[in-house]
Amino acid sequence: MRPDELSSALLAWYDRDRRILPWRYAPGLTADPYHVWLSEVMLQQTTVAAVIPYFLAFTHRWPRVEDLAAAPVDDVMAAWAGLGYYARARNLHACARLVAEWRGGRFPDDEAGLRQLPGIGEYTAAAIAAIAFGRRAVVVDGNVERVMARMFAVLEPLPAAKPRLKDLAASLTPGSRAGDYAQAVMDLGATLCTPRSPACGLCPWRPACRAQGLGIAETLPAKVAK
Ligand code: ADE
Repeated sequence: MRPDELSSALLAWYDRDRRILPWRYAPGLTADPYHVWLSEVMLQQTTVAAVIPYFLAFTHRWPRVEDLAAAPVDDVMAAWAGLGYYARARNLHACARLVAEWRGGRFPDDEAGLRQLPGIGEYTAAAIAAIAFGRRAVVVDGNVERVMARMFAVLEPLPAAKPRLKDLAASLTPGSRAGDYAQAVMDLGATLCTPRSPACGLCPWRPACRAQGLGIAETLPAKVAK
């Protein structure tokens, strides 16, 4: 399958089977950058299931980035309790203040601009650029690395394989529907292409997956023994 056939097959699967999550909008509607940013920061080291109630609580209490910026930092820290990695909450509040006070409440709309903000690293900048602004950004998290390692039967172990896996992810990223595509690959890794017992029988990429063809999907990505 060509890259455009692969992205079409994955987007068709996503349109049918995507997870319904509170920060995801119906197909065709543009996501609110504040919601995308908040969800991606929460998802940095935390599972989707754990993030959902916090995302709903934050957006109920602070519906706009200006509301979050105006909140005392201690209130934000208290609301974050339980999510862990508390530097994220401090950076979240600092970022909200910057965006509210210096940028009129608008987030930068590309990766370079997003990277300037506190708490936004390479992954998060790419995710927001793609999901909120439709940029063709290459979004790579652990799920995406696993999917790429299997699709291309990359035997080199992590973490050394990271640059190669990013290049492979870039080679499949389409120019349109970038945000849906980014979330579709992450969902594929989270729901079908799982670390153990992957559900290859349901996978839209099965015909093109080298590791599946070789019968070694479950062994990838390889990791350096600790
Ligand atoms: N992991 C981090 N961000 C995600 C998203 N937007 N969709 C699915 N999984 C994710």
